[in-house]
Amino acid sequence: MIVPMKEDHVAQVAALEKRCFSDPWSEASIAEELRNPLSTWLVNEEDGIVTGYIGAQSVPPEADVMNLAVAPDCRRRGVGAKLLCTMAELLHSRGIVTLFLEVRPSNAAAIALYERYGFAQVGRRPKYYVNPPEDALILRKEL
Ligand SMILES: CC(C)(COP(=O)(O)OP(=O)(O)OC[C@H]1O[C@@H](n2cnc3c(N)ncnc32)[C@H](O)[C@@H]1OP(=O)(O)O)[C@@H](O)C(=O)NCCC(=O)NCCS
Repeated sequence: MIVPMKEDHVAQVAALEKRCFSDPWSEASIAEELRNPLSTWLVNEEDGIVTGYIGAQSVPPEADVMNLAVAPDCRRRGVGAKLLCTMAELLHSRGIVTLFLEVRPSNAAAIALYERYGFAQVGRRPKYYVNPPEDALILRKEL
């Protein structure tokens, strides 16, 4: 079930973030970003366990997806797509018309997901990522 992220989800989200990324956000950064009025966070909960999450920051009429991850043992069950589509619908209902995100060119799984749901590459940010250093592809979808 997809629900808005609350403060008591933060520890589980931070633990998942650590398992899913080589340069994870800290628990403190996630908690701080959850309090940011420009941010929207959703989690997918299964029997009280967070199996995926997504965060986006809005500057109307645009928004940027900051994080999306699904627990390794819960992948390829549609959770990532459900999080992405639910976020897109929610942001659209609040007047967001363009959604951006950044992705590592080496992240074939995420790129496949984004392309399947209508994102297209519009640019590239050199050396955007650290640990390991890598460019970012900038993807955009009109909602
Ligand atoms: C990217 C990620 C969120 C996808 O989550 P997921 O729940 O496994 O994705 P879904 O099951 O909703 O996949 C939907 C579609 O996306 C594509 N897709 C997803 N993972 C894929 C993979 N490993 N290889 C190829 N296509 C893939 C497929 O088209 C898939 O549909 P299908 O399963 O019917 O073929 C997940 O792999 C993840 O958490 N990765 C690590 C963190 C990360 O890289 N986040 C993105 C940062 S930009």
